[in-house]
Amino acid sequence: MKNKIIAGNWKMNKTRAEAEALIKELVPLVADARNTVIICVPFTDLQSAVELTRGTNIHVGAQNCHWKESGAFTGEIAPSMLRELGVEYVVIGHSERRTYFGETDATVLARTKAALNAGLKPIVCIGETLAERQSGKMEEVLTRQVSEGFKDVTAEELQRVTVAYEPVWAIGTGVTATDEQANDAIKYIRGVFAEKYGKAAAEALYIQYGGSMNDGNAKGLLNMSDVDGGLIGGASLVASKFAAIVHAH
Ligand code: 13P
Repeated sequence: MKNKIIAGNWKMNKTRAEAEALIKELVPLVADARNTVIICVPFTDLQSAVELTRGTNIHVGAQNCHWKESGAFTGEIAPSMLRELGVEYVVIGHSERRTYFGETDATVLARTKAALNAGLKPIVCIGETLAERQSGKMEEVLTRQVSEGFKDVTAEELQRVTVAYEPVWAIGTGVTATDEQANDAIKYIRGVFAEKYGKAAAEALYIQYGGSMNDGNAKGLLNMSDVDGGLIGGASLVASKFAAIVHAH
């Protein structure tokens, strides 16, 4: 089994002062982790995060970036702006962006390509809604999200991508996918990638689970054969809980 990639997605939480306090608490708690540790913080916390994690094993990510390098895009942030700050990762296509900000598979692809071109490592989120799962459309939705959302991503670029399977019904609801549901969906997703990029590339690809993962359920999820890590929302806002997830496998 691979080591895991454990990423916290802070979403729209933590002022700069709060972020600094949380990172200072987190650094010693995860210093001896054997898994990769990433924190994806609000734009306004990025500079502090990069400075406070310098020389530690914590990597820093943003939560979105635009597909253009500059221009008249009020309110957006370019990938090169993130790189200049020392940011390494960026979450793309989170379901909250798809639901509230009109993100589509096409914009996810455009942002992913721009992030890759700028030297960032995208964490691309996919996942079905409850209605889609209940109507038997889960596989169709996941297949579409991969085929459309990775249309022009090359095999070489894929090596710098992490995928997060986040079933929308499990995000922030306290309803976690069972270990088997998470593993089965990720296996399915891996199969879709295998068809496009070959078996070896699909096996090397990191596919995380996200959705109400916490210090109580992380061990079971992370012990599954195909779950290569976690993308953690709520529980990543508490240093001890996030550290427990980092050490759960
Ligand atoms: P929760 O862990 O709060 O359910 O959020 C998951 C998520 O959306 C991470 O990106």
